[in-house]
Amino acid sequence: MFSRVCGVAFQGVEAVDVDVQVQIGPGAVQFSIVGLPDKAVAESRERVRAALLATGLALPAKRVTVNLAPADLPKEGSHFDLAIALGLLCAMEIIPPDALDSFAILGELSLNGEIVGVSGVLPAAIHANAQGLGLICPRDCGGEAAWADEGMQILAPANLIELCNHFKGVATMQRPQAKLGSAGPTLPDLADVRGQGRAKRALEIAAAGGHNLLFVGPPGAGKSLLAARLPSLLPPLSASELLEVSMIASVAGELEGGKLTDRRPFRAPHHSASMAALVGGGIKARPGEISLAHNGVLFLDELPEFHPQALDSLRQPMETGSAMIVRANNRVSYPARFQLVAAMNPCRCGMAGQPGHTCRRGERCAADYQARVSGPFLDRIDIQLEVPAVRAVEMMGGTASEPSAQVALRVAKAREIQQERYRGDVESCRTNSHCSAKNIEKHTVLERSSRDLFYRAAEQMQLSARGFHRVLKVSRSIADLEGSAQIKPDHLAEALSFRQPTTSERAA
Ligand SMILES: Nc1ncnc2c1ncn2[C@@H]1O[C@H](COP(=O)(O)OP(=O)(O)OP(=O)(O)O)[C@@H](O)[C@H]1O
Ligand SMILES: [Mg+2]
Repeated sequence: MFSRVCGVAFQGVEAVDVDVQVQIGPGAVQFSIVGLPDKAVAESRERVRAALLATGLALPAKRVTVNLAPADLPKEGSHFDLAIALGLLCAMEIIPPDALDSFAILGELSLNGEIVGVSGVLPAAIHANAQGLGLICPRDCGGEAAWADEGMQILAPANLIELCNHFKGVATMQRPQAKLGSAGPTLPDLADVRGQGRAKRALEIAAAGGHNLLFVGPPGAGKSLLAARLPSLLPPLSASELLEVSMIASVAGELEGGKLTDRRPFRAPHHSASMAALVGGGIKARPGEISLAHNGVLFLDELPEFHPQALDSLRQPMETGSAMIVRANNRVSYPARFQLVAAMNPCRCGMAGQPGHTCRRGERCAADYQARVSGPFLDRIDIQLEVPAVRAVEMMGGTASEPSAQVALRVAKAREIQQERYRGDVESCRTNSHCSAKNIEKHTVLERSSRDLFYRAAEQMQLSARGFHRVLKVSRSIADLEGSAQIKPDHLAEALSFRQPTTSERAA
């Protein structure tokens, strides 16, 4: 007795077909799985055996062989359980042999026959739909699968009995509904931050153009406070961005209850994070924080406290917008186009550059602390500014700050202008910061006075070629916020002011 059903494996956010072949034949009684299974797949034997038993079925006392083809593709994870169990039920003629031909199958089994949620259901559903197949997945993940296509056939059973009854025609299952996550708790608002006008302006420009941003300042100045308010200024995800973000979250198993939300991701990993945690990797080459922050914000608080190697591993993804994880037997690429926001103190004691302060360890205090962040990493940060301590008069003053919603309106307008500008371009960029060097030069025609200013400043500040283009991009965003097609000298001057060496660098 032989049967075959369609399972899926994952390579990055892509699902690929796995042909699950089951043969029940004569020979010594045994149950074996072949086709490069990892430990979780190999253990599937025990879960499938127990789940069938709990459903009132026993494995035949024969030789059962399961082959996961292609045999040279490594198979990882527990989501093959359901495909193997259903393949067995077909081979045992409990489910009609052709009933599963039009489905891709994934799900984990528990020992009592329940079907448990797994990661990667959304990419699996999109892949199955592209091939004209339906999907059988766990009940918990049905809402996620339903996003793939309205007309797609989806079965999301809670246990094996429900599924058997469906195929026998005893009780038909309803198609699950696509679930939209609630907006979540309200985001922290910019109105909570007193003073810090320049930092707020920088935050607005960064939000408008998707620029990387670094706050440097003494303890308690409000750096973390400001950075946490960036998400409240950003526009919601577009439909295509939402899909990209959700695919990554699905593969990482981070879609709670299979619900999708149009809020941009905001990831704030602790500074003890390893390179694999940030960029992705581990045994299963999972997406890292930078991929989970795709189309959103990666916030690195206390920047110099991160492992220098881990920080430098972000340099390539910051340029390419993707993280390539290469293993001896595997190569996986995850999208990682994120906006970096970082905060740091200027030195170990935190007060370098403050009026009247001298570090106890002298100039080395700032130099040593600063040296933990490499120059090339800093060169990738478009907007760098000092956040001085808030003065008492500002803290106690009654003037209300502008709320996030008002700033977000200006940001949304600037983003619309950018989308309009880049719509016709061959390369698909959405914001100024993602625009290629060639493209930004094409779109930023400087008037003569701006050109002269830029030339003098670039010479004096010894801007790198990257710095040159990044200043152009920031000034483009400033002009977009103002609704100006031309880049005027004051737009350029403001962009240049954000590339001035910060206190810490001067002190170093
Ligand atoms: N500009 C401000 N307006 C209102 N409250 C502020 C401001 N700056 C700081 N605070 C208060 O101080 C607290 C600490 O601020 P925050 O954590 O942002 O400081 P920080 O600059 O990140 O310091 P550190 O360098 O120690 O991390 C905030 O929770 C807030 O209560
Ligand atoms: Mg802080």
